[in-house]
Amino acid sequence: MAARCAALSCCCSASAWVFAVGALIFLHGLSSGACSICKHRVPGPDEIIYKVHLSPNHVFKRNVNQQLRVKTIYDTSVENLLPEKRKLVKNKLFPQAVSYLQKTFQVRKPSGTILLSRQCASDQYLRKRGDPRRYCSGACAQYTRCGPVIVPEEHLQQCMICSADGWHCGSVGIPDREGVEDADFVLYVSALSTERCGQENIVAYAAYCQLEAKMDRPIAGYANLCPNMISTQAQEFVGMLSTVKHEILHALGFSAGLFAFYYDDNGNPWTTRHATGLPSFNPSLGLYQWSNKVVRKAARLWDVRGNQILQHDVFLLVTPRVVEEARKHFNCPVLEGMELENQGGLGTELNHWEKRLLENEAMTGSHTQNRVFSRITLALMEDTGWYRANYSMAEKLDWGRNKGCDFATKSCKFWIAQQRKRQEIVRPYCDTLRSNPLQLMCREDQRAVAVCNLQKFPNRLPHEYQYFDHLNGISTEELPYYGGAIEIADFCPFSQEFSWHLSGKYQRGSDCRVPENQPDPSRNYAAETYGPNSVCLIQKSAFTMEQCTKKLTYPDWGSGCYQIFCSSQGLKVWFKDTTYLCSRAGQILAINIEMNNWVYTGNLICPACLDFCESCPPEHDPPPINKTRIRPIDICSRSSSLVVTLWLLLINLLPLLLGFLLCAHN
Ligand SMILES: *[C@@H]1O[C@H](CO)[C@@H](O)[C@H](O)[C@H]1NC(C)=O
Ligand SMILES: *[C@@H]1O[C@H](CO)[C@@H](O)[C@H](O)[C@H]1NC(C)=O
Ligand SMILES: [Zn+2]
Repeated sequence: MAARCAALSCCCSASAWVFAVGALIFLHGLSSGACSICKHRVPGPDEIIYKVHLSPNHVFKRNVNQQLRVKTIYDTSVENLLPEKRKLVKNKLFPQAVSYLQKTFQVRKPSGTILLSRQCASDQYLRKRGDPRRYCSGACAQYTRCGPVIVPEEHLQQCMICSADGWHCGSVGIPDREGVEDADFVLYVSALSTERCGQENIVAYAAYCQLEAKMDRPIAGYANLCPNMISTQAQEFVGMLSTVKHEILHALGFSAGLFAFYYDDNGNPWTTRHATGLPSFNPSLGLYQWSNKVVRKAARLWDVRGNQILQHDVFLLVTPRVVEEARKHFNCPVLEGMELENQGGLGTELNHWEKRLLENEAMTGSHTQNRVFSRITLALMEDTGWYRANYSMAEKLDWGRNKGCDFATKSCKFWIAQQRKRQEIVRPYCDTLRSNPLQLMCREDQRAVAVCNLQKFPNRLPHEYQYFDHLNGISTEELPYYGGAIEIADFCPFSQEFSWHLSGKYQRGSDCRVPENQPDPSRNYAAETYGPNSVCLIQKSAFTMEQCTKKLTYPDWGSGCYQIFCSSQGLKVWFKDTTYLCSRAGQILAINIEMNNWVYTGNLICPACLDFCESCPPEHDPPPINKTRIRPIDICSRSSSLVVTLWLLLINLLPLLLGFLLCAHN
């Protein structure tokens, strides 16, 4: 059973699981190098043309913000895709991603026409004082590339060259062409089976290739899709779309290679520049060195197994809007900045938000579930100095919200222990081992059924990521092998949505809002309803479904998807023709209903009304149960044969957890 990656730029499945009765089977060993280590090529300064002079903009007044205009140029390789894939890429994926970004961002200094600089035949070029153009020493390259894409001639400036001694300079060949009009950014989209596609098992990667001269804003970039990895499966579209947006955001500004080029609100660079106009290059990082006004190192006190506290070094993004949004999000007024990813190798680390802290934020380094573009990412784009963001386009991020400074700065060991001490749930982390039967839970945003991704690794985890002093049924010697499945989340375990597979084939997902996830009536063991108004509710006990001669209980239980609606009395849980009122959070609803010729019995726990409804009446204790109303449904009115209880122990429907690195970013 091969785990298919559900998003465009997945590298591989970092943690694919199959549950079988009595045993946990590894599909892809987490230690198998090809899978867990994603190699990211950081773009060298020789691949980027800096300080590209654009002719002054006559159309717009200075300093008037204007909606971002991305011009998408499809390479012939996209035209050569199979029709189904081509249509997906050209008619849906890129138009929708670009449309979202154009609505979300404004450009502070819009450009007029983009005319790109030519690459040189050798890597030697010259600049003359008072002349914005770049001169190639000897000759211009035959082709100018943006990543793997050859830039069309009509987007290029005239070739400017100087003789080898540098004395004789001038232009050669065709004069400046028309360029790309009315655009702030040219995105070259290709579908080439590049070496990287083959080597890294990735689906897409993207970066910028030319920066303009005045404010170093990227004006051109590329996104390459690995043709074999484009999926036309409907259930993978949402993941692919958010991945394409994620990639374009890297190309527009969210990149460690650009931190040193960010500007403050007054239009001054945060990082000191040399006479060339460029910051210093840090060869050991392979990046231009940013000022500590942009990114700063900090040391955290990090609780680990055995009551030890280690020093855990982190990089924080500390620009003003990011700091403000991070403080608001976690409700931690003293937070110094938003932590950047520290794992996953070059390209993942520093280029993404820390997965432990912003799990499902779309600019974290891997795809696990329901990715959202939050205010924090929009704040970063504003803090580049190049854009303004429309915050009403930001999506709600539940992960970590209002969890406080301990959550934002301490290890998940500390957080779990503290919550246990206070007798509170350890959300958003979890510490239940996957066992048979499976304990189902809810995703942090309560919109999908989920399982805890705590697992045993083949090797001991690094000391700083060993968090467990005891786990039920696990010997002390084995504890260092246990952690959350997602490495870049600092191995912190959390509940993850999954998909059900039958003989290796995808059956359905666990997102409550997707109607296609509705189980077949004969397999709907917990009276679940999937659809736009459904949310994940915790079950207090396993549901039973009964007909006169059959009684079924599904061994895997703990949560399910149920329809709710908001009424003036409060939140109501709604089955086909029966509603149950939740008077307060934590109230237990005794469900007894008839659906599809089955009688269901079970208990659900009420969520907090305000988690889902705009306005809620004050919480109060539910009225005493009306005995006349809950007269049990008569199951055997017609026949009275023997009742057989079936335990569905041998199930071939298997839940599969996906979580993989986005290898996409250069
Ligand atoms: C921001 O986005 C919202 C939602 O798309 C839109 O209604 C609003 O007009 C936008 N505001 C600005 C200033 O563009
Ligand atoms: C109990 O339920 C029955 C049937 O729905 C209703 O007629 C009766 O008034 C209810 N009694 C109370 C005390 O609410
Ligand atoms: Zn990325």
